Amino acid sequence: MQKVLGVFVALLAIWFLIALLGPSGDAEPARAWKSSAECMDCHSEIYAEWQDSQHSKSWTNPLVRERSGDFANQDCIDCHAPRPVFITGIAERVLPRSTQRNEGVDCLACHQLPNHPDGTPGGVAGGVRNSEAPCRPEERRELVRPDFCAGCHNQHKTVDQWRASEFATGIDKEDCLDCHMPWVNPEDKATRHRSHAFPGGNATYMLERAISLTGEARDGVWYATVTNIGAGHSFPTDERSRTADVFWRPLSEDEGAPWNHLHRIRSPYRDEVDVPDTLLLSGEARELAITSESEGAGTAVSSDTPIEVALYYRRTPIWEDLAHPGANRGAVQVARVELKP
Ligand code: HEC
Ligand code: HEC
Ligand code: HEC
Ligand code: HEC
Ligand code: HEC
Repeated sequence: MQKVLGVFVALLAIWFLIALLGPSGDAEPARAWKSSAECMDCHSEIYAEWQDSQHSKSWTNPLVRERSGDFANQDCIDCHAPRPVFITGIAERVLPRSTQRNEGVDCLACHQLPNHPDGTPGGVAGGVRNSEAPCRPEERRELVRPDFCAGCHNQHKTVDQWRASEFATGIDKEDCLDCHMPWVNPEDKATRHRSHAFPGGNATYMLERAISLTGEARDGVWYATVTNIGAGHSFPTDERSRTADVFWRPLSEDEGAPWNHLHRIRSPYRDEVDVPDTLLLSGEARELAITSESEGAGTAVSSDTPIEVALYYRRTPIWEDLAHPGANRGAVQVARVELKP
């Protein structure tokens, strides 16, 4: 009897300890979050990914500061230091905030809810409701849908381009999260999460994934085909400065030999009325005749000449000197093919 009582007391003590130290909905009062720094201690891995992302830099990014005149152009503040999407409305134009602007597109922009379930301000949107977790995430399926990105990423129709693509309409569907928030440690329940690094045009491996470049000889002249195989939207997309150019040159040992410009892939700015929109739609294959001058002008290049063709991508202003592209001018070589007779 005494032994049974002993075990009972021990169990009671263990239960008491668990209740005292373990997770509990009452352990922390419901909070209104004010800064991403508050999420850092508990979500350190996600925080580090986000810090490396363009999202965290959207306010401090030197290129954005230069183009906006240090945000003298107040229209630029809206998406680069936004208020929470759940407060301003899914797929609605986001509005600027006045605090913690240096945190850019911060955790709160995507996760902060207007209210906790009890009506007090603040709350966290997640994939599942978890009243045990200190930040008490609520389930909000809207968070994982492309419309969520649209408030900021549909100004130049990236979300609409995706909607029209095979990735949205076909059998093997892939959405923004599949490509831009891949799972980290998918096998490990404790650390599994979606990457918050959001790679895009700033990541060379993403650009390489988007494009294939091939070539062939036909009727004695060369043709190259550039295909958007991997972007779930046009290539390039979103920011209108993004430019891809296709070049060719005779094959030679000379690394510094000049490239000949062949074709430009880009969406014009609003005031550039004479510039055609040549963005490569998702899945689109575009065949280019190799000619001595840009955009099919000049003479066709004979397929007796061994040549190389390359696609270069720039995320900053357009080429100043089309004849001399190169990484030293801020361009990245994304694809290259050698064509030999
Ligand atoms: C005191 C620690 C703590 C703080 C501070 C905290 N969280 Fe959490 N959070 C947790 C724990 C523990 C979980 C549950 C386990 C998990 O999913 O990592 C969780 C879960 C979540 C989830 C849901 C996970 C899912 O499965 O969908 C989201 C989203 C989230 N937190 C976001 C935030 C954000 C944003 C902040 C800052 C505003 C924050 N958290 C602050 C500890 C914390
Ligand atoms: C509140 C506004 C906002 C929301 C919501 C938002 N983004 Fe962004 N995103 C931005 C801004 C602003 C930048 C550019 C920051 C910079 O480079 O200065 C950006 C950059 C990116 C980039 C990096 C592109 C590059 O240049 O490499 C990707 C990819 C991206 N976002 C994907 C997404 C996806 C997917 C979603 C939806 C889950 C999303 N974003 C939601 C504002 C937002
Ligand atoms: C409607 C939301 C929105 C507004 C308003 C906005 N931006 Fe952006 N900006 C974005 C998004 C989203 C991206 C990421 C797109 C991409 O990577 O192609 C971005 C990216 C950029 C980039 C590229 C950053 C890099 O390093 O790759 C620059 C520069 C930029 N914006 C400047 C501006 C300027 C200047 C203004 C004001 C005239 C402005 N933005 C207004 C949403 C916006
Ligand atoms: C551009 C929007 C965006 C930003 C910024 C953002 N998140 Fe997320 N976060 C998401 C989306 C979308 C999910 C996926 C939800 C799902 O799969 O259910 C997510 C998921 C999470 C989760 C759940 C675990 C997982 O990945 O499945 C946690 C925790 C989290 N975010 C924390 C944070 C923290 C902390 C920050 C700031 C350092 C942050 N997030 C910034 C959009 C964002
Ligand atoms: C099938 C994969 C895939 C899907 C789906 C997808 N993307 Fe992308 N995305 C890419 C690739 C690859 C790139 C790099 C090539 C490029 O810039 O077009 C990219 C680039 C981007 C960029 C950077 C553009 C630039 O030039 O800096 C943004 C912003 C972006 N995607 C947003 C989105 C949004 C928002 C969605 C959902 C509506 C989405 N993406 C769906 C693969 C995908």
